[in-house]
Amino acid sequence: MAATGSAVGLGNIWKFPYIAGENGGGAFVLIYLVCIFLIGVPIMMAEVMLGRRGRRNPVDSMKHLAEETGHSPLWKFLGWIGVTAGFLILSYYSVIAGWAISYVFTTASGAFTGANAALVGNHFDELTQSPFTLIFWHSIFMLITMLVVARGIEGGIEKAVRFLIPSLFVLIIVMVFYAMTTSGFAEGVRFMFSSDFSKISTEGVLKAMGQAFFTLSIGMGAIMVYGAYLPKDISIAKASFSIAIADTAVAVLAGVAIFPIVFANGLEAGSGPGLIFVTLPLAFGNMAFGAFFGTLFFILLVFAAWSSSISLIEPAVAWVIENKGVSRVKASIALGFFTWFIGLGTVFSFNEWSNSTLFGKTFFDLLDYLTSNIMLPLGGVLMAIFAGWLMKKSASHDELAVSKRAYTLWRFLVRYVTPVAVLLVFLNAVGVFS
Ligand code: PFF
Repeated sequence: MAATGSAVGLGNIWKFPYIAGENGGGAFVLIYLVCIFLIGVPIMMAEVMLGRRGRRNPVDSMKHLAEETGHSPLWKFLGWIGVTAGFLILSYYSVIAGWAISYVFTTASGAFTGANAALVGNHFDELTQSPFTLIFWHSIFMLITMLVVARGIEGGIEKAVRFLIPSLFVLIIVMVFYAMTTSGFAEGVRFMFSSDFSKISTEGVLKAMGQAFFTLSIGMGAIMVYGAYLPKDISIAKASFSIAIADTAVAVLAGVAIFPIVFANGLEAGSGPGLIFVTLPLAFGNMAFGAFFGTLFFILLVFAAWSSSISLIEPAVAWVIENKGVSRVKASIALGFFTWFIGLGTVFSFNEWSNSTLFGKTFFDLLDYLTSNIMLPLGGVLMAIFAGWLMKKSASHDELAVSKRAYTLWRFLVRYVTPVAVLLVFLNAVGVFS
């Protein structure tokens, strides 16, 4: 349950539709789905397994497992990649979650009732043009995240997620019904599911793969930390599959809800990170009881972001507690402050620094690119290699406890398919095949 809470977040509702939109739709979605099930699920199983055997923070789990199997303790660097990726992601995740909090209030005030595309667009621009407002909401989100982390993550999250995910699901289905009533429904669905491969770039393929890692929360030790808390009698395979299915369902339904609204209102599918913040308010502004459903939706989105953000920082917090001998509260305050500070770079990416780019990317774009498309796939593949090549067969078989056939398939996927696939996508993205 907690891992589902980690997986389902802004990645599904905010990021998936906007990068699918930027990368031409259907073909991107198809590659993304293939990556989820062929690369994502086997790596998730490997990561949970490493966590359950390591029983520590990702850095020390890797070191311990490497030593236990007679390999170099340098494997701990795999943990480090993860810990670093985690708070880099959180630094911008929190800024976007801040937008969602501010939309709870705007929607509740009725400001979007009867709104048209121009009004909603203006509201979004005004928000992102104001660094102070963004910093304010970013600070609130970091505060509520660190509050939970400081109190310890067990217990509370599981209860919250049990209610959160089903409610979010129901609300997205309400939105899909609304989308069906718009004139853009057929076009929206076509955009999502017709695979025109001429529309996708080599970088688009890399982004689809990066998104698969990001949305499943794999490759950085978050799932490893949760694996460390997982009881021995729970099936890792079943848990991984059900997480992937719930996660994919939320993302795909969000797309089906959003793209019809985009086309019905003459909006731009590739308009970027603001996509849901200019489409969903339009839907809520024009449906019955829209202010009510809209407020509820953004509240749930904030909760979904919250249950993910906790897992982004937990690996770092766990490492500090276990290695520096400081209390959980102190570790949370220090790391929370540090993350908040880096988040300012993302805040300014949308206003003061929007023209300062490196390789054509703003600070926010660069952070996102580096973490999702490079660090997570790299971390994930190293985990797959460790689990598939370095761990004893008897140990992984014992941990996974699946049928012989399923085990053989999993081992084949982590040993050969995932490393080769990720390598090919990397090489393709840097232009080796073009
Ligand atoms: N999976 C989360 C989402 O889709 O919003 C983001 C995330 C959480 C990524 C935790 C990585 C992670 F470790």
